[in-house]
This record gives sequence, structure tokens and C-alpha cells, in this order.
Amino acid sequence: MGYTSDRIKALTRSEIRIMSVECEKAGGINLSQGVCDLPLPPVLAQEAKAGIDNGQNHYTRFDGTEELRRAIAGKLAHYNQITVNPETGVVVTAGATGAFYSACLALLNPGDEVILFEPFYGYHEYTLLALGVVPLYARLSPPGWYFDPEAVEHLITPRTRGILVNTPANPSGKVFTLYELRQLSDICTRHNLLMFTDEIYEYIVYDGRVHLSPAAVDGMESRTVIVSGYSKTFSITGWRIGYCACSEELAAPIGCASDLVYVCAPSPLQEGVSKAILALPDSYYENLRAGYERRRNLVCKALAEVGLTPCTPQGAYYVLADVSRIPGQNSKEKAMAILQRTGVATVPGEAFYHNGGGDNLVRLCYAKSDDILYEACERLQKLR
Ligand SMILES: Cc1ncc(COP(=O)(O)O)c(C=O)c1O
Repeated sequence: MGYTSDRIKALTRSEIRIMSVECEKAGGINLSQGVCDLPLPPVLAQEAKAGIDNGQNHYTRFDGTEELRRAIAGKLAHYNQITVNPETGVVVTAGATGAFYSACLALLNPGDEVILFEPFYGYHEYTLLALGVVPLYARLSPPGWYFDPEAVEHLITPRTRGILVNTPANPSGKVFTLYELRQLSDICTRHNLLMFTDEIYEYIVYDGRVHLSPAAVDGMESRTVIVSGYSKTFSITGWRIGYCACSEELAAPIGCASDLVYVCAPSPLQEGVSKAILALPDSYYENLRAGYERRRNLVCKALAEVGLTPCTPQGAYYVLADVSRIPGQNSKEKAMAILQRTGVATVPGEAFYHNGGGDNLVRLCYAKSDDILYEACERLQKLR
């Protein structure tokens, strides 16, 4: 049928969905999708239910309830060392996905360019493409995922409007260092660029690393749009609670865009999240982090044992593994071969590169319960 818009036609790749279908057919274990099926902190459910019972079932203000905006501003001050005005600088959105979409819709015009580090998270690329924004790709080199600041600067043209930094990153697990953020800040300042961040994995950092928000780097606060949310931190991917935080000048149009597309984030769920932010102690976040570090170690060990050398992630909950030794012409064939031999579904590396690349990589997600991960590690032994 000829009804599909050109914008949507451009969004063809869906390796993750394809692998999930193949996995189901094979009765396999799905480590391809980033769905964290871990239990959520009880306070969340209690407070969301109380919100429904107390009649909080209607539209909230377009940018979120006052309580949630204040809770987010408090958390930004405490955890990210960033000061925002909860009245004018926080826009609660339908997940981080809604936050990024709204920010791009509000601040970018078709034909504008945004620098995207590769390997990238597919939604970032597709959000830009869907809005007619042109991604400029800057490669990160494994295993340390370093970038060349000169190569980044070389990409810039008069149409370039921003740089997108996902830290900790999906799929590479890269955690940007202060040194690297200063390099990017310098580029943004000299070329008058915005910085869009995606900090959805901000609490999941390993080996004593600290999450640094790019906006906390000198001079970046006024030109950064922070995108984050609670899908991963509270294991509530289906609740759709995220936010943008930025200057009033940037937040006003973003709020307008989010209002247009989503009206507001789910009202009683805003109640649950705001109460949980206020109630949960720092130890909650430390336990979350430590739990993922343990799972990372488990999966990386299993991968190394079977010769699929992992690029040990510094944060987030995915690992890219080297599949050079698996037969196949490309990463799709290799991922299928792994699924057929072990019953473990992974994502082909090419899903994270725009034009070749990732041929010898697959991504595994370890945001799974222990029994599933043990079973997956056991099955991977068949590749020995
Ligand atoms: C980098 C990144 N950003 C955003 C999201 C989605 O966040 P949300 O559920 O808040 O839309 C994901 C989910 O996999 C992700 O990996």
C-alpha cells in the first residue's frame, strides 16, 4: 500500500524486533531486547495505586506535577551537581524517548545536522531521521570507545546544530570522562552548538566510575538539554516517565512540543515516581549499580570463556562481544548462528552503525533475572 509517509519509510531497520521474533520461534532466551524485567521498588507501586485511589487520574500540567518537577530538580542538584528551576527548567515527558523527540521537534529544523557517536542507540538515529534532521556520524573505537576530537570537529558544517552524548552509552557501555566532556564542551562553545544528552543509565556505572553530566562541565549548562528518566533506574520501562532539564529558554519550546504530542506523562505514575525519588535512600541506587556490575561480570566471564571476547562495559547494561570466530558473512548471520547453536538471541552489531561496521559484534543485554542469565551463560558454553 502506498500510504506510508516518506518519514516512516526511512525507518526500516529493526534488528531487535527481528531477533526477538526469531528467538520466540526458537524458544530461546532473549538477550537482544533492553527490557529490564527486574522487580521494582515497592514504594513505587504503592504510591501509584494511592494516586489512582486518591483521584489523580486526569491531565497534569503539560510539564508534569509540581511534586515531580521539584523531586527531579532536587535529584539533579544532589546527584548531577546541576541547578535547574523546577518551575521553568524541567519538562516531565513520556519516557526519555518522548523527551528526546520533544527536544528535537522543538529545537531543530529539517536539514539541520546533529553529531551522533557510533555505535549509536537506534532510536537516536531514527528520531533525527524522522524529523528530517541529518545525523553526522563520529566513530568510537573499541575496546576503549575513544573518539578523535579533530574528526568530530571536522564533521561540523554551517547546518550543524548539536552533539548528542549518551553516557553511559547503549550499546558500547562507554562512560564519558571529564577530559572527553571538556573536549566536547570546547567544540560546542567554539561552534555555538547545543548538546543533547541521554543519561538514562546514569546510575549504572562500574569499577568505581562516577557518572558525569555533560551540563555540569563549565560553560555547558546553558547550551545543554539533559534527557533522562526512570525507566531503567526504577525498572519501569512501561510507565513512560522521563524528563528534559535545561534553561528556561530551551525548556519552553520543549514543553510546547511535548504537550502537542503527549499532553502529559501518566498522572498517577508521576505520583509514584515523585514519591519514590523522595523516599528511596542512596543505598537503593548503590544496590542497583552493584547488581548490574555482578551481572556484567557473570556475562563477560561466560563470553570470554567461549572466545567471544567482550568489550567490558563501563556502564549501562549491555555488552558488545567480538564474534569474529562465529561463521557467517556479517553480524546478522553470526547472530543467527549463535541463536541456532545456543538458543540465545543477541542483536547483530550492524544495527548500531549507519553504513557498514559492527560486522564482528553482537550485543547482549544483561538486565535479566539471575536464573535467566545463568541459563543463558550455560547455553553459551555450546560455542566452546
Ligand atoms: C540510550 C537509551 N535511551 C533511552 C531509552 C528509552 O528510555 P525510555 O524508556 O525512558 O523512553 C533506552 C532504552 O533502551 C536507551 O537505551
